[in-house]
Amino acid sequence: MDTVLISGGTGLIGTHLTAKLKEKGYNVALLSRNPVQKADLQIYHWDPGKSEIDSGAISDSDYIIHLAGVNIGERRWTRERRKLILESRVKSGDLLLRSVTGNSNKLKVFISASAVGYYGAVTSDKIFYEEDPPWGDFLGETCRKWEESADRFEENGIRTIKIRTGVVLSSHEGVLAKMIIPVKMGFGSAIGNGNQYMPWIHVEDLCNIYIKAIEDVKMRGAYNAVAPDHRTNKEFTKCLAQILGQPFWFPNIPSFAFRMLFGEMSDILLKGSRVSSGKIISAGYNFKFPDLENALNNLFQ
Ligand SMILES: NC(=O)c1ccc[n+]([C@@H]2O[C@H](COP(=O)([O-])OP(=O)(O)OC[C@H]3O[C@@H](n4cnc5c(N)ncnc54)[C@H](OP(=O)(O)O)[C@@H]3O)[C@@H](O)[C@H]2O)c1
Repeated sequence: MDTVLISGGTGLIGTHLTAKLKEKGYNVALLSRNPVQKADLQIYHWDPGKSEIDSGAISDSDYIIHLAGVNIGERRWTRERRKLILESRVKSGDLLLRSVTGNSNKLKVFISASAVGYYGAVTSDKIFYEEDPPWGDFLGETCRKWEESADRFEENGIRTIKIRTGVVLSSHEGVLAKMIIPVKMGFGSAIGNGNQYMPWIHVEDLCNIYIKAIEDVKMRGAYNAVAPDHRTNKEFTKCLAQILGQPFWFPNIPSFAFRMLFGEMSDILLKGSRVSSGKIISAGYNFKFPDLENALNNLFQ
């Protein structure tokens, strides 16, 4: 049975992915800074800040999925926080590469998370594709360096895939869990001018894309993991309010309130690019939840 090692596998995506991989018959092991042993799961310790990693983690693995990284939406982006956001992704990836190249085990595939932030936060109707260059803002630069560190696996002869992920929809965690609070209280309304796109993906589709990346030997390079149904923040919030049987209000929540509270981090809510899912569909992936109504109904039924 092949083993998949997931860095940062204790988080939102990792938890769902672990369950899905096990369902498919894979052995799963996690890398965590705070390993809490579980009966049915091997959890190895690592500390990328100190370049420490349990050597057994790498020698037993056929595939690595690199999800580790400080959450970008938790705190204001101070200079210190920006450094941590970048380094927690790049230095941890570099540590994985050093461990893989210093090990006799032949890793089959390296898959790294990335984000649609690669294309910047640009409110327009332009659709961004994988071949577009990275944007020059903080998230664009972070994703560029994050992906460059993943590319070093490819340079070492290991098939490498980068999954540029949109907002992951899951019922109890992540962005959606925060968005439903005002909506459930009956105060749902768009943010800023509401025209910013919100590329999204149901967590189950995202896990299936990771599994396809493991199994489909033709997949290499960057793929956008976003549903084909492009929605603006206004359309998204309106749909969410409808599904939850709540009113949708005008006017919108003004931008300055978010800017005062969150500083530059508010860009992830107030601006947003429109992103294509064409490449992953052409690679043969069939979305289980291609449209927003079905995705939200599934999560909140
Ligand atoms: N969720 C989304 O909507 C979304 C969208 C686009 C991209 N992504 C990307 O996908 C990846 C996984 O997302 P997620 O939502 O599952 O994230 P998450 O729930 O925040 O989990 C990330 C995991 O990374 C580890 N981590 C945190 N700080 C770290 C540090 N300083 N050094 C090393 N590891 C650290 C933690 O594991 P331990 O505490 O066990 O070490 C944590 O469980 C992230 O890189 C994220 O940026 C997520």
